[in-house]
Amino acid sequence: MRIGILKETQKGEKRVSISPNITKQLIDKGFEVIVEKDAGTFSSYKNSDYREAGALVEKRGVVFKDSQILIKINPFDREDLKLVDKGQVLISQLYHRSNPELIQMIADKGASAFSMDAMPRISRAQDMDVLSSQSNLAGYKAVILGAYEMKKIFPLMMTAAGTIKPARVLIYGVGVAGLQAIATARRLGAMVKATDIRIETKEQVESLGAKFILVEGANGGSENGYAKEASEDYARRQKEAVDKSLFKADLVITTAGIPGKKSPVLITEEQVLKMKNGAVIIDLAAAQGGNCEVSKLNKTVLKHGVKVIGTTIAPESVSTNASELYAKNMYNFIMHLTDNNNFKWDLEEQITDETLIVHNGLIRKIKSK
Ligand code: NAI
Repeated sequence: MRIGILKETQKGEKRVSISPNITKQLIDKGFEVIVEKDAGTFSSYKNSDYREAGALVEKRGVVFKDSQILIKINPFDREDLKLVDKGQVLISQLYHRSNPELIQMIADKGASAFSMDAMPRISRAQDMDVLSSQSNLAGYKAVILGAYEMKKIFPLMMTAAGTIKPARVLIYGVGVAGLQAIATARRLGAMVKATDIRIETKEQVESLGAKFILVEGANGGSENGYAKEASEDYARRQKEAVDKSLFKADLVITTAGIPGKKSPVLITEEQVLKMKNGAVIIDLAAAQGGNCEVSKLNKTVLKHGVKVIGTTIAPESVSTNASELYAKNMYNFIMHLTDNNNFKWDLEEQITDETLIVHNGLIRKIKSK
């Protein structure tokens, strides 16, 4: 079977779905690989790196025409779908719940499509979970971005000219990104506090040397590893518990998400008004509406002396590592779906069932998480 690796066309995207290293591993497993020319340029991979790994490097049209499996990171768009043929298998993040037209177009083509963002949150799917691998890098990058934007340093520093106190960092949401943000901020020497609606994260926060801010009513009642929406009462109590730390923080990183829903607003403009002059907020939830009321998608907003950065490009900005991890997730997924280079189409199996959105032109019933 021939796997086609497409260049990402989305503005600002710097990643590529398969690295030269994974290309070689796929070829070693008996697949053929055909890569669109310059697909890896912004992840620091040259066309010659793919050729050396054993792939063919071709123009976009050839990749579409000659591949049985087509791989991307971002959803296939209208232009892509014009080139798709019956029987081809598309794999990318499809965000199928918010892209019904796209799903219909794939079905109309008689193709099949797997969505990487529909991966179930079960232990055996962990090594295929692109949301986790990319969020992890986003958590790291959020701290680095924050450190760059702050006018203070992170660690305690005792100098002949006086002692500099460590920076205070506050993290909302202790999922994959939040945990990595805590670890990174701690490594840089900051005093870190974090809060989450899932009480089970307390132990994880403390094991990283940070303080957990417990909100009365936080529960362990997550569904499939995800949080439930918080009640208004919880939101009020969260403010009471966290505000003191928020108003003292030098850097705030927000990562709180509810899958398939708008992110909860955890910091209002009224709260921003009371924050320290010069503080920085990095809102990693900006693409889903944002955790901070004043944040704007991929923009820096200066409000009441606080710099609020709503970013979605954290993984793209470390595109070499992000591509490596995405590629490894994709490799594991392809290995899971195939046997002797042929699709197993085991529709009873949970990972296949939940990620297969369109099968030979039929839109499948999507299980809600
Ligand atoms: P996410 O991006 O959906 O949300 C981030 C965090 O925000 C979560 O910890 C959530 O509890 C928290 N949050 C939501 N609403 C909040 C509110 N109102 N106030 C405070 N915090 C709030 O979550 P992410 O990072 O994608 O993963 C969450 C958990 O899922 C992980 O910690 C992990 O345990 C589990 N997981 C399991 C996987 C597997 O087994 N394959 C893969 C990935 C994650």
